[in-house]
Amino acid sequence: MAEEEQRPWLSAELNNMADEISVIGPGHMGIGITQVFLQVGYNVVLVGRSRESLDKGMERLKTSMGKAIKKGSLNEKEAEKMLNALHLSSDYHDIAGSILIIEAVSENFDIKTDVLKNAEAHANNTAIIATNTSSIPIHKLGNGLKNRERFLGMHFFNPVPVMKPIELIISKETSEQAISDVKNIIDKLGKTPVMVNDYPGFIANRILMPFINEAIIALENGAADKEGIDTIAKLGFNHPMGPLELADFIGLDVCKDIMDSIYMETGNAKFIPSELLSRLVKEGKLGRKSGEGFYIYKK
Ligand code: CAA
Repeated sequence: MAEEEQRPWLSAELNNMADEISVIGPGHMGIGITQVFLQVGYNVVLVGRSRESLDKGMERLKTSMGKAIKKGSLNEKEAEKMLNALHLSSDYHDIAGSILIIEAVSENFDIKTDVLKNAEAHANNTAIIATNTSSIPIHKLGNGLKNRERFLGMHFFNPVPVMKPIELIISKETSEQAISDVKNIIDKLGKTPVMVNDYPGFIANRILMPFINEAIIALENGAADKEGIDTIAKLGFNHPMGPLELADFIGLDVCKDIMDSIYMETGNAKFIPSELLSRLVKEGKLGRKSGEGFYIYKK
């Protein structure tokens, strides 16, 4: 590699590899993560289970990039370059050249562990493997891996292209070198790494989910209507969205999964999903993505 191509912020091991990362899971978060890496010039291998899931992911990516173009944070030429740097694949062998592999599949322990093991089996042995879990303890997800020194959590926020922080969750086994490499990569993304220890729900969701859940209980109790509850948070706390609007935005199923996972870890009743949340999820009212949650959305 020529002198001017050296990346002094990366360890020597990763410096010998190309600017390529892999994202596993072309869902909402995986696509957002793909977009931000493409936007700063990385090649990205996006791995999906099937052609259909990758096609759906591509549609999401193009919609999201369209929003960025509309907002002026991206132009057509840059967008074309980004799409040329994207490789879609359903074959884990394609992740072998990546310096960082980010797992962004469903928030389900068994699915994530399988994907992570598969990723480790096909990754370069110097690559860092990260999970975008929003609540499952890192040490548990890392249990099936051989090299836990290069494994950590990178919890992105939704919408990924807009939100600045990334919770960087480390276990006792994560090496200083891996932490430093990932911090520097995050820096290049223009995002802010926040070091967080491996506690259930980390920081974001142990604070946010009881807040959202209490708003749902207030609605259930008839303390105010949904608009009233959201208006209090927007005008009274200066939040860009009220808690019910935000729950719809995150996905009611995602909120419930996160709460179930934190409750399972802590046994603390404040993390039990409210009856109304569980009922809406059962009825398939998942928020924006299904067209209805607390509010109704045009498809
Ligand atoms: N690339 C792609 N999309 C972009 C973009 C970009 N560079 N810039 C903006 N957008 C999107 C926005 O996401 C928004 O999408 P929707 O139409 O789907 O809402 C749209 O373009 C319009 O963006 P604007 O900034 O013009 O609109 P806005 O002022 O209404 O802001 C918002 C939208 C950024 C979502 C704002 O309402 C907001 O900040 N809401 C709170 C979000 C939040 O709290 N996120 C954290 C959730 S918790 C979490 O993520 C952790 C977890 O584990 C659950």
